[in-house]
Amino acid sequence: MADAAHAADPQTDAPQRRAEAVLARMTLEEKAGQLHTVDASGPDPAGRLGPEIASGRIGAVINQVDPQTLRGLQRIAVEESRLGVPLLVSRDVIHGFNTIFPLPIGQACSWNPDLVRDCARAAAGEAAASGVRWTFAPMVDIARDARWGRIAESLGEDPLLASVLGAAMVEGFQGDDLAAPGTLAACVKHFAGYGASEGGRDYDATNIPDNELRNTYLPPFKAALNAGAASIMTSFGDIDGVPATGNGYLLGDILRGEWDFDGVVISDWDSIGQLITHGLSEDMAAAAREAAEAGVDMDMMSSAFIEHLPEMVRAGAVDESRLDAMALRVLTLKAALGLFDDPYGKTHEGAAPTREAARDLARRAARESLVLLKNDAGALPLDFGAIDRLALVGPMADQPYEQMGTWVFDGDETRSVTPLKALQDALGEDRVAFAPALETTRSRDRSGFKAAVEAAGMSDAVLVCLGEEAILSGEAHCRADITLPGAQLELLDALRETGKPVVAIIMAGRPLTLAPVLERVDALIYAWHAGNMAGPALVDVVSGAFNPAAKLPVSFPRSVGQIPIHYNRKNTGRPPVAEQIMHIDDIEVGASQTSFGMSAFHLDDGYTPQFPFGFGLSYTRFDYSDLTLSADEMNRGDTLTASVTVTNAGDREGTEIVQLYIRDPAASLTRPVRELKGFQHIMLKAGERRTVRFDLTERDLAFSGRDRRVRAEAGAFDVWAGGDSTAALHARFVLRD
Ligand code: NOJ
Repeated sequence: MADAAHAADPQTDAPQRRAEAVLARMTLEEKAGQLHTVDASGPDPAGRLGPEIASGRIGAVINQVDPQTLRGLQRIAVEESRLGVPLLVSRDVIHGFNTIFPLPIGQACSWNPDLVRDCARAAAGEAAASGVRWTFAPMVDIARDARWGRIAESLGEDPLLASVLGAAMVEGFQGDDLAAPGTLAACVKHFAGYGASEGGRDYDATNIPDNELRNTYLPPFKAALNAGAASIMTSFGDIDGVPATGNGYLLGDILRGEWDFDGVVISDWDSIGQLITHGLSEDMAAAAREAAEAGVDMDMMSSAFIEHLPEMVRAGAVDESRLDAMALRVLTLKAALGLFDDPYGKTHEGAAPTREAARDLARRAARESLVLLKNDAGALPLDFGAIDRLALVGPMADQPYEQMGTWVFDGDETRSVTPLKALQDALGEDRVAFAPALETTRSRDRSGFKAAVEAAGMSDAVLVCLGEEAILSGEAHCRADITLPGAQLELLDALRETGKPVVAIIMAGRPLTLAPVLERVDALIYAWHAGNMAGPALVDVVSGAFNPAAKLPVSFPRSVGQIPIHYNRKNTGRPPVAEQIMHIDDIEVGASQTSFGMSAFHLDDGYTPQFPFGFGLSYTRFDYSDLTLSADEMNRGDTLTASVTVTNAGDREGTEIVQLYIRDPAASLTRPVRELKGFQHIMLKAGERRTVRFDLTERDLAFSGRDRRVRAEAGAFDVWAGGDSTAALHARFVLRD
């Protein structure tokens, strides 16, 4: 039976003091038990894990969300373990819990931290009401490779955008007080460089030079920690020869040292055990020691800590003070979450948003995630009043589960409204001619094409929902070929032949190579997996009830061979020049060897992406003019203001995401050709114009230099403003020492 050692006054006792009081009474085994996270899924977890929980050998569980089962496990921890320390209940709550919002990459298309914060808040409320108190999100890995399945879970390729949105997610999950109703502790992941795995293959090795690590991959982690993230997860990757889970430079020098992070560091699933497989540690005991010494506090699933740390402390191979510090951090998190006072989560019982509120938010989020990539001759929006009938075709048109996307364990597909249902609601059933044509996105059986062509023939226009099912992206689901799978392209050919306008809606977890699709359609909306309310949101956009504003958080390659391709690349010594690009077909047969005029491009695909970072169309058009700077020179400590005039030159109201980029053209380390430094949403009525201002300070110009110090270097800076990363309006100023 538990004693009351930690029954202190919650009002006066700071979490760490509370944790210290518990730690002081613990045996070595109990301390190591706090570091042990186990899988509580499957039948009868109480029977299976009960004895270990009762003996204080388990500190946290993952993958169990049934409230009654969780109460049972918690009761064992609280009532049957010697010190009654409650369990920490974790779950991957990635883009919703029961209500599913767009994939993180889709949410990132909104460039809207308030919206992203609201989605995380709603997800936290639903999850906490079930008994979950710790989520393994946000994932802020910079992702530049569309083959990598986890690009779906990322916030894209840009350090600033991922920083702003990752921080917003943390704020949404955690609120101001980890013990308040409906909160989860966030866990920013995967520290670090996971997104750079070779060949876009999950779990593969990464080679990231320090400059790249510090200036590209680390900033979003720092931003999430600055936003208060309570914990951080190590990456599976081998980074420059030292797997992240055993990497003292990353976890010790940078995270604990330079950044002074005192929250919980957890390994990824069995990534301590995998230190052996990587070839770093010779056995489990060595893996436990190396992970602990590098800076890992908690072990997800390998059992290395619980099996080896107590013995190693007794043998003098690991300092007890290290074990104490690890356990203290876990206990402090538990105390901060209010678990000692309310282990059964009564505080959170009514914390979930109402279904209606969650549904409305899901629709709003989905609308803001839909990127209009092509719209020839105003093919969209469709005038629903003037249309007799619409054909709705394609394997993704009526898939309540698939539209939710990857990383959905607890999502309720009965909350999904598919494009079919939403269109029928909007137009009436008899004005929608539906034919899925293909059973799944991977089907090659064309027997359904005939019905689809007939549906198109009897309609004014065709909406075709194509893409990838949810399982084709996400963890461990990488692709070498990122074209539309199955016979989807052939379906487009068949529809094209009907002569009807064709609008493609692509629902996928990654950027696909779209050239052949774009040739065959009049308009294209990139919908990602937009969650439960994908259908109504798409109808809002297709009908013009909502004017799309979303912008890409990642460059879309023309072909797999272009990967990695990202806007913030280096200039190189031979940057490509549009006029000098030649195509493979332009080269004479037998031409002699030459490198004259050659630069960094592919003979068969040039150097530009299919769609650049920051790109997205609207039903109106925005013109940019008059980029001016408040001064030509800036002293350290000054604020320089860049102003640009944006005009809505079209005939309807719309929102534009105005973007500001800079370049440091001569620095002690070469800097990217462009870096996003600011963005703002503005809503303009038709014909309206407004001046948008961005303040730049020394901090915006700074980078981690050769000496690893973050500072701005004096000299010239280029500035561009516009609606995507190819923005043409340019100005220049000088930073003076
Ligand atoms: C492995 C994944 O890499 C990580 O992101 C996730 O949080 C854990 N599994 C737990 O499910």
